[in-house]
Amino acid sequence: MNFNLKILAVNDELIFKPDSVLVKFFIDSDKLEKVVDDFFYSLGFGLSKIQKRNFLDKKSDELVYYSQIGEPALIFSKKIKIDKDFSSDFFRNYFAGLTQSLKKKNIKAVHVIVPSFTDLKNYFENETLLLQSMLEGIHLGNYTFDKYKADKEKPEELLFFIHYTDQKILKSAIEHSNKLMSAVNFARDLVNEPSITLTPAELAKRTKSELTKFGVKVSVFDKKELKRRKMNAILAVGGASDNSPCLITMHYEPSSKAKMKIALVGKGVCYDSGGLSIKPTSSMLEMKADMSGGAAVIGVMKAAAALKLPVELIAIVPAIENMIGGSSYKPGDIIVSASGKSIEVKDTDAEGRIILADALHYASQQKPDKIIDLATLTGACAVAIGEIAAGLFTQDDNLAKELINAGNRTYERLWRFPFWNDYKEMIKSEIADVSNLGPRWGGAITAGKFLEHFVDGKIPWAHLDIAGPAIKHKSRNYTEKYDTGFGVRLIVDYLMNL
Ligand code: BES
Ligand code: ZN
Ligand code: ZN
Repeated sequence: MNFNLKILAVNDELIFKPDSVLVKFFIDSDKLEKVVDDFFYSLGFGLSKIQKRNFLDKKSDELVYYSQIGEPALIFSKKIKIDKDFSSDFFRNYFAGLTQSLKKKNIKAVHVIVPSFTDLKNYFENETLLLQSMLEGIHLGNYTFDKYKADKEKPEELLFFIHYTDQKILKSAIEHSNKLMSAVNFARDLVNEPSITLTPAELAKRTKSELTKFGVKVSVFDKKELKRRKMNAILAVGGASDNSPCLITMHYEPSSKAKMKIALVGKGVCYDSGGLSIKPTSSMLEMKADMSGGAAVIGVMKAAAALKLPVELIAIVPAIENMIGGSSYKPGDIIVSASGKSIEVKDTDAEGRIILADALHYASQQKPDKIIDLATLTGACAVAIGEIAAGLFTQDDNLAKELINAGNRTYERLWRFPFWNDYKEMIKSEIADVSNLGPRWGGAITAGKFLEHFVDGKIPWAHLDIAGPAIKHKSRNYTEKYDTGFGVRLIVDYLMNL
């Protein structure tokens, strides 16, 4: 943690705490000069001519004002142009950057004047989403993973005062985002933890101890139970590691009658060396994060229970390490999965789809209304669309629409790939029911088609390939330093809008 954050709702009245920062947004318009003058005048401050001219200049959008006479000690003025470059992620990204920048600045409080919703209504469906984006930005910017650093500092308290007229909407947005972002942080902690510590058993242990606090039931199938259930796909892939595989299942039931029963499945590869089809070192570097889909699903369960969402949820995370050893599974092997379908192994680095075969079959057996899986499944997906979105693969237009909308609202965006059955032809095997490797082209789609073999065709299902956005990347202030926890905000939003 950077700061011990406290976010408080206050109305429009500005009464400043000592050592405080004021954050004020100005929407660019013809009247900007007057609005800026009036604002500084109202605080008893005056801008110098040069400060004002620089701020009004087309090329500039920021003014940092240091007060000589009192509070606020600092004013961050930000000019916003509502044009084609503006996005609903603006405030999330801004506050993530701001919160990080306040470290070691001796600031005790931040006062934020929320801009008028009327100016921004083309970008946010409602006021809650505007407020939410700001609050999430503060939480995201405050995330650190510094537990292994010797020189880390004790977190200091930082108060955020959010000034907004509608206190009811504001207070519930604050409460909601506190719970949601605590779940995102939990998922991020799991992903950022290196695999030397976060073995499959450790993932199960942390999941159990955190989620049971919220009333989620957690069961873990150990190796013996996996054998009993003929989950040979999970056993084969996890077989070479000294750290045994397991299957983590979670169940959340709301206190009132559930609207729907949804199964969430997450890839839980705690480390992906590639197995005998070994990866080069450079590709292995990020592979502690190959359980990001699992962590996201676990995070969703925590958030759903904390927020008391009115849906029944089943979550399934096959947890393994893809390693090399005397008991490695091998290219050329044929594995008979729990569903009875056999898999020809052509590449042991395409391991995620193999373990998900057993997990998706198990999910189908629970007879949910819908199944959604999240997996860092293919580099090919990231090659196709980069790190700023996840791939969406489904035959169900309705589910696609709902998920894409949730993605646009949360800025955990989804891009739908073609998912025609022609791609299924490409993973046929002569000696087994399906091959775990398709041709070079279309690798993200054939991986999705492989998964489809193991899902009950009567249940609407969507597969999200999060290989790009789950892993740290430079596109936003809140994705730069640490693996991202992608998917928690997205799926929670989807569930809330069912
Ligand atoms: N875990 C990887 C996919 C991945 C790559 C995730 C980069 C995050 C960042 C997956 O298990 C894998 O190795 N996929 C192979 C599939 C190939 C062998 C068909 C890939 O993408 O190269
Ligand atoms: Zn792999
Ligand atoms: Zn993998």
